[in-house]
Amino acid sequence: CIDIAPLYKDTGHFTYDPGYGSTASTKSAITYIDGDEGVLMYRGYPIEQLAEKSTFLEVAYLLLNGELPNKTQFAGFENDITHHTMMHESHKNFFQGFHHDAHPMAMLAASVASLSAFYHDDLDVDNPEDRKLAAIRLLAKMPTISAACYRYSIGWPFRYPRNNLEYVNRFLHMMFEVPSEPLELSPVCAKALDLLFILHADHEQNASTSTVRLVGSTGANPYASIAAGITALWGPAHGGANEAVLKMLEEIGSPDKVETAVKRAKDKNDNFRLMGFGHRVYKNFDPRAKIIREMCHKVLSELGVNDPLLDVAMKLEEAALKDDYFVERKLYPNVDFYSGIIYKALGIPTEMFTVMFAIARTAGWIAHWIEQHETPGSRIGRPRQLYVGADKRDYASIEKR
Ligand code: ACO
Repeated sequence: CIDIAPLYKDTGHFTYDPGYGSTASTKSAITYIDGDEGVLMYRGYPIEQLAEKSTFLEVAYLLLNGELPNKTQFAGFENDITHHTMMHESHKNFFQGFHHDAHPMAMLAASVASLSAFYHDDLDVDNPEDRKLAAIRLLAKMPTISAACYRYSIGWPFRYPRNNLEYVNRFLHMMFEVPSEPLELSPVCAKALDLLFILHADHEQNASTSTVRLVGSTGANPYASIAAGITALWGPAHGGANEAVLKMLEEIGSPDKVETAVKRAKDKNDNFRLMGFGHRVYKNFDPRAKIIREMCHKVLSELGVNDPLLDVAMKLEEAALKDDYFVERKLYPNVDFYSGIIYKALGIPTEMFTVMFAIARTAGWIAHWIEQHETPGSRIGRPRQLYVGADKRDYASIEKR
């Protein structure tokens, strides 16, 4: 307990809420979460229904426009996206500056920020047409830039987007296709990736979306705002958790080491946490984890993958769900516990996992950025602080210190 009275005589009242555990920073009509009941809805539609019946691109339209599209609206949207999938030719040179083993998230963040240096015709944040064009460009180019980050990191030449394919297939081709061998994709791979994109598309005021809004509140252009979201997503407590989960499962190595891992995670003198467990808002099972768990088993059996890491994951899930420490704190597996296993089965390398998350979350980030600019009277975001530093003191010259 800090005595702040002497420091705060005349500043009025404000709340001290570290980590914003109970502070709503904005009103929003995009996504609803009930963490106690494990409910997630985009624009009022339950995530379970969207996961079963919709596609990522339709969900992106829904998030951006508030309603599901009819056939004509969807065709127009898809057409707009398809027209903007290419990277500027000079953008390709930009990659040459990166070290060959740069992390794809580092390249992605820098590349997306650089889009404002390539496109100057959509940067008036107060113009709805400019905002719409930037939204389309970002959704269209994210898979192209992401695939380029991957191919650059393994020394392969970039692939141009094949615009006769739909969104997820187009991305998988840009990632994996080589000129002499046409890529044979199992439909279950594209479906699984589309599902993961739907589940990751938005999650109201999480750290990266709040970052996009905070940067957006300054009037920064859309590319700068979304690039800030990408960097916030990268941390292992947020979107970086999917990469961290896989590294953790590899580190545990075999089901018989799970007990030791659980013990370590409970030890307060050990920094080790079970990655992919716990959530700030869900104090019940993460509804996305339920959906993805099922898909995870389907993908592995369809592709005939026998991954020992899955045995470790299942044992870990079982052990944690029975353990008093995890039960009392309501620490359930979250969406990222399973997504990495699917990505691995699809042949996506571990360093690309958070990039995959970023492609999907771009839909939500832009929807929030647009909502923020459409809301009259939006103010610059400016959190306050409780000052706990030194009292006033006088400067002493360096000889006297
Ligand atoms: N393993 C072990 N203990 C944990 C874990 C975990 N994964 N998560 C939380 N705890 C414990 C904390 O030590 C704390 O214990 P205490 O009450 O004895 O001090 C208690 O549970 C509450 O944890 P907080 O850190 O206060 O919860 P917070 O809401 O701040 O953090 C977070 C949520 C960051 C997700 C946390 O659970 C975590 O680090 N999980 C692992 C990383 C992860 O999976 N992140 C992905 C989140 S989902 C996403 O971004 C898409």
